[in-house]
Amino acid sequence: MKLEGKSALVTGASRGIGRAVAAALAAEGAAVAVNYRSGKAQADEVVKEIESNGGKAVTVEGDVSEYEAAQRIVEQSIEQLGGLHVLVNNAGISRDALIFNMEPTDWLDVMRVNFGGVFNCTKAVLQHFMSQREGTIVNVSSMMGLRGWTGESNYAASKGAINAFSPWTRSVGAKPGRAALTDLVQGLLEKDGGKGILRQIPMRTFATVEEVAGVVTFLAGPDSSYMTGALVEVDGGVGTMLGIGAPL
Ligand SMILES: NC(=O)c1ccc[n+]([C@@H]2O[C@H](COP(=O)([O-])OP(=O)(O)OC[C@H]3O[C@@H](n4cnc5c(N)ncnc54)[C@H](OP(=O)(O)O)[C@@H]3O)[C@@H](O)[C@H]2O)c1
Repeated sequence: MKLEGKSALVTGASRGIGRAVAAALAAEGAAVAVNYRSGKAQADEVVKEIESNGGKAVTVEGDVSEYEAAQRIVEQSIEQLGGLHVLVNNAGISRDALIFNMEPTDWLDVMRVNFGGVFNCTKAVLQHFMSQREGTIVNVSSMMGLRGWTGESNYAASKGAINAFSPWTRSVGAKPGRAALTDLVQGLLEKDGGKGILRQIPMRTFATVEEVAGVVTFLAGPDSSYMTGALVEVDGGVGTMLGIGAPL
């Protein structure tokens, strides 16, 4: 197991991609702090599942958009796990709307959680990582941080900020629809069940949360030790093409 003896904090791990990342890191031997904001019962379930597979995990409540909370999340993770070596900044939200209709709170909430959360948790963990001269930070970004989409300017801006944030973190760019069918993308799938999005994906299939978690685990582990500042696209090939269909 590649993360034996290591401890990891995964933000927003009560559901979706974060949950799969927590399970994947635990399967590689890491002790995992499962952060959540409001879904305590779901976070407890994640811990139970990890424990039933022979792993170690604890829950840590806290809103990553608040710096004091991020500090507490990091402190409690270190205390409960006896150390910390990996931070996965995964917590994220969307509040989709055309700019014309977008409330300033839709803009600020998305920036505060998605990018603010990455800044807060990264800052909160740095002292510990620097003093032990070891630490890996993986950010879960989005292909929207590279190319925006109608109605998602706030989300795209928050992910673009993550991509530009630090050369010392590794990011996974996953695109809604091109990635995982989680609560976050329900709004996008409402109209046609995702058929329109599927047509834009060269691989013609959605990713599973496990496929994203596998890449995060690689970036968090020893096999990527000479990588830093990398943006790894997990997008079914979307980033490789201008558009799909017969050439003009
Ligand atoms: N799904 C996709 O296709 C896709 C594509 C590209 C990128 N991503 C990115 O992947 C990450 C996870 O997305 P997902 O699809 O798994 O979302 P999800 O199913 O909606 O889960 C979001 C998670 O984040 C937590 N969270 C939200 N706000 C938080 C806050 N302020 N503080 C702490 N935790 C908070 C939630 O906890 P509670 O339940 O407690 O609120 C939940 O555990 C996000 O950064 C997202 O932008 C997803």
